[in-house]
Amino acid sequence: MVYNLVRDASIKEIKAAGMEGYYADHDKALYFVNGDGVPWTASYIQSKGDPIADLNEDLAAEQKARATYEYLIQLSDDPGVTKTLRWLREREIVHYQRFGETLDHIYDYYSKDHYYFMDGK
Ligand SMILES: [Fe+2]
Repeated sequence: MVYNLVRDASIKEIKAAGMEGYYADHDKALYFVNGDGVPWTASYIQSKGDPIADLNEDLAAEQKARATYEYLIQLSDDPGVTKTLRWLREREIVHYQRFGETLDHIYDYYSKDHYYFMDGK
């Protein structure tokens, strides 16, 4: 979607959008940066190895994505872009719900006694 928005932009339009720095470094190629131009890195996500901690991290990430889509919808004046952003926002809500259900399963699992048997070898 982002590429489709910029692929036919003229140099004049790129300058008017304040994207000349981006264009100088990346042409019109996709290069993942935040709203301040800071490149995406894997340090934005966490993995602790503990299912409860990791699922809560996932839940937070889904809510942050949903909120970002809502802000982008407020900024959009293109009906096609807005429609796509609304669909993506709905997907984040579904992802949040699925992670929440998984977290419920984990809590249920941890709330029960577990017995382990050794076969004597
Ligand atoms: Fe998601």
